Amino acid sequence: MPGTSDGPVPRYRRVVLKLSGEALAGPAGYGVDPEVVHRYAQEIKEVVDLGVELAIVVGGGNIWRGTSGSAKGMDRTTADYMGMLATVINALALQDALEALGVPTRVQTAIEMKEIAEPYIRRRAIRHLEKGRVVIFAAGTGNPFFSTDTTAALRAAEIEAEVVLKATKEEGIYDKDPRQNPDARKFDEISYLDVLQRGLKAMDSTATSLCMDNQIPIVFFNLNVPGNIKRVVLGENIGTFIRGETGA
Ligand code: GTP
Repeated sequence: MPGTSDGPVPRYRRVVLKLSGEALAGPAGYGVDPEVVHRYAQEIKEVVDLGVELAIVVGGGNIWRGTSGSAKGMDRTTADYMGMLATVINALALQDALEALGVPTRVQTAIEMKEIAEPYIRRRAIRHLEKGRVVIFAAGTGNPFFSTDTTAALRAAEIEAEVVLKATKEEGIYDKDPRQNPDARKFDEISYLDVLQRGLKAMDSTATSLCMDNQIPIVFFNLNVPGNIKRVVLGENIGTFIRGETGA
């Protein structure tokens, strides 16, 4: 039962985890690597076992990136719809891996494809979460021109999640690119406005603004350190915490 175990007490009751599509690709750099998905599923299960209500938004960049397609001359809307379909493939892979571990899940798609998954229905998503099911939101927001980061921010606002966990390949947000600048400084905490004004690579500006307007903090952290999802959920200060101005 959520929140009734004797173990460590999670900092959050309901979270949205944003997983990039690339995270599912493994060493090949593209497609879905079932072993990698299985590893993430195990980490996700540890969080669910804490009694946390977990919703996942998954990207599709391991299969198709709408922006790259449109940069090469393709119609942006078409390219983005292809990206949304890619997220459905990833959602099904995650669902499969989670259910193999005994974690109940429901996939909901923003574009109706009823033979494959439930359509996105906010109240139903909340009900699933209350019943301890992991809800995987697929097909982005259903609209072109919106990223899956924005989907995570939107769904978090809709389901009243307390935080967006942005799982990435980076340790956190830096004032400049740490690969090219050995003196780059990692922010432990930063405001939404600073992220926007400095043009820092955290979430895209639409997603950041949506979180800012709805006062949903974002934790930006490295997914590739085993156990990190659980650490963040338990409130350990890793990565970068994005929120409103301190004292505001
Ligand atoms: P509760 O009634 O709250 O227990 O939720 P539930 O999801 O178990 O009930 P429901 O009878 O709605 O769903 C049973 C199964 O069918 C679940 O695995 C759902 O994900 C699946 N399901 C429900 N609606 C759809 C749909 O529109 N399309 C697809 N493909 N599956 C669906």
